[in-house]
Amino acid sequence: MNLFGQGRHLLSVLQFDRPTLAGLFQLADAVSPIARREAVCTVLDGAMLGSLFFEPSTRTRLSFESAFLRLGGEVTTTTGFTFSSMAKGESIADTARVVSGYSDVLVVRHPDTGSVAEFAAASTVPVVNAGDGAGEHPSQALLDVYTMEKELAARGGGVDGCRIAILGDLRFGRTAHSLVKLLSLYDSLSFSFFAPPGLELPKSVADYATGRGHSVHFHDTVVEAVQGVDVVYATRVQRERMPEDLAQANAAGDLLNKAILAQADNLDVVIMHPLPRDSRCDSFDLSTDVDDLPGLSIFKQTDNGLIVRMAIFLTALGVSTEAVRLTTKQRPWRATLRD
Ligand code: ASP
Ligand code: CP
Repeated sequence: MNLFGQGRHLLSVLQFDRPTLAGLFQLADAVSPIARREAVCTVLDGAMLGSLFFEPSTRTRLSFESAFLRLGGEVTTTTGFTFSSMAKGESIADTARVVSGYSDVLVVRHPDTGSVAEFAAASTVPVVNAGDGAGEHPSQALLDVYTMEKELAARGGGVDGCRIAILGDLRFGRTAHSLVKLLSLYDSLSFSFFAPPGLELPKSVADYATGRGHSVHFHDTVVEAVQGVDVVYATRVQRERMPEDLAQANAAGDLLNKAILAQADNLDVVIMHPLPRDSRCDSFDLSTDVDDLPGLSIFKQTDNGLIVRMAIFLTALGVSTEAVRLTTKQRPWRATLRD
């Protein structure tokens, strides 16, 4: 079974169905001892990752690179336009052809929607979309849904039939777009959306969910949107993708905080966010005052990102779990401070 559907690129969450999604999550579970550094794996010995990030990133770039290194591969990386020859006018197609000659797989983030598919079209090796403008962020949605499954299972439930609030910049936020589409593979979901004026979810994304039988509700306040939901997913205002006046109009107070959850009588809800959380004053994002609530899952998401991205590489490079098992051994060194 090819977990990416057709081909070996990972460009969109639309490449998955329920069995392939479950297969990818099983692979992520299988490599978690390696991510936790209980074991050392060399299955990607000799393989090279080309990591190309033309937009800022902390967790996507570092977790993709760590995932590749943890599997025994090597990494070359370039960040920003300034330090690549795109600054000299080189096209996406030429860049992709050149760097795919140096790598066995490419991970690409770029500010233009559709640009990573353009990379893939000219690449001779698999390409993974690490975010293409306001388009998609498939690896983020995969780790989000993986985390949701784990958190809801820990509460005795599951994703099917659950109620999910998605808040914030739903227009430019690619994580929200990918998440709604990937969640639509599940059964009978209820989506509650809150977005400030001008930052509403694209109709095509809402229609995608309703077309698959889910109920979709739009709310004027966050309190209403989070009432009675099982999961709340907050997102950052994507200031870098909008005109200054729209950014200014969304620069006051918190999007979500403890008082809002208390007012909605939902302090125990699973709280998620793709991060980064904009912690500047009046950023209109998730407040840090929720950090002591029991449902806070934002750092579980970041930890899960490592194993989900390891599973993505194993799939892109056609590595079996048996090959992983045969190249994994106990580590002889101490890892975390708890060791
Ligand atoms: N880090 C995520 C992204 O690159 C979310 C965000 O930046 O707000 O899409
Ligand atoms: N969630 C996410 O994509 O984070 P970065 O932008 O830091 O990679």
